[in-house]
Amino acid sequence: MRDNSVPRPFLKWAGGKTQLVDELTRRMPAYFGNYHEPFLGGGALFFKLYREGRIRHAVISDLNAELVDTYIAIRDHVDDVIGLLSKFPHDKDFYYRLRSQDPAKMELPKRAARMIYLNKTGYNGLYRVNRQGEFNVPFGSYKSPQYCDTENLRAVSKALRGVEIICASFETVLERANAGDLVYFDPPYAPLSRTSNFTSYHANGFSAQDQEKLRDVCKELGKRNVNVMLSNSSAEMIRALYASPHFVIGEVQANRAINCNGQRRGKLIELIVTNYPLEQRAQLRLLEKRASFAAPVA
Ligand SMILES: C[S@@+](CC[C@H](N)C(=O)[O-])C[C@H]1O[C@@H](n2cnc3c(N)ncnc32)[C@H](O)[C@@H]1O
Repeated sequence: MRDNSVPRPFLKWAGGKTQLVDELTRRMPAYFGNYHEPFLGGGALFFKLYREGRIRHAVISDLNAELVDTYIAIRDHVDDVIGLLSKFPHDKDFYYRLRSQDPAKMELPKRAARMIYLNKTGYNGLYRVNRQGEFNVPFGSYKSPQYCDTENLRAVSKALRGVEIICASFETVLERANAGDLVYFDPPYAPLSRTSNFTSYHANGFSAQDQEKLRDVCKELGKRNVNVMLSNSSAEMIRALYASPHFVIGEVQANRAINCNGQRRGKLIELIVTNYPLEQRAQLRLLEKRASFAAPVA
């Protein structure tokens, strides 16, 4: 069912977490400082937390520069983005003309309007680039796609006020997260079988070594008393990486495309890993213990 509350994700994003957000919020710590989301994508959890008034300060980031620029443009120039989108026609020739233009040569609002338009009118809302980094998704077959949703774009802009938006790889979160903060990691999922290759969101993909590096970042954050929550597929490799007393592994069911062209859907088990206990009383005991360590010596 479509969630019409605002602000909500303004892009369709592969691996978007809209259907898992309730499971995720249920597993969050009762209290946390700053919120960090280093694999932002469509930002389903960020927007849900904002709607619930649970964010004090947020730092959101992603490796995809066009995506990050789109968030920055909506934060800083939402009227210009809306102005452009409202004039874009839903038309195949216009789509291919806009697609062929180089976003790097555009002003920020136009780059964002192009990204939103191509995402909402292109085939299946895919983000795919060729070896040269050029967006190469064909025109989609939507009757009346909503690419200029003024109410939501304005609400998104308001939610992004004061938010730090960064283009960086996930490990840089180590430079920003402090004790008591919450980091939510939603990396490209590890493939369930050797034949599935759906991890290539970015020209570089996300390798098994990247998954290992991510686990090491989670461990390091734990040592610094930072709360970590991570979602991933239930691939054996992921279960093995997080099988340690540092982590709690939970299972949830998600409705996902189960073949490569996305036509067959089915229930799949996915994992939500945390580095803190899920039970609230246990969380409070942990907080007290940490507070007593932090108390100044008389
Ligand atoms: C599963 S998607 C996130 C989906 C998001 N949670 C949502 O609700 O839409 C993974 C994201 O990780 C980004 N990404 C891939 N490799 C990365 C890296 N090394 N560091 C940071 N982000 C990366 C991709 O650009 C993509 O947006």
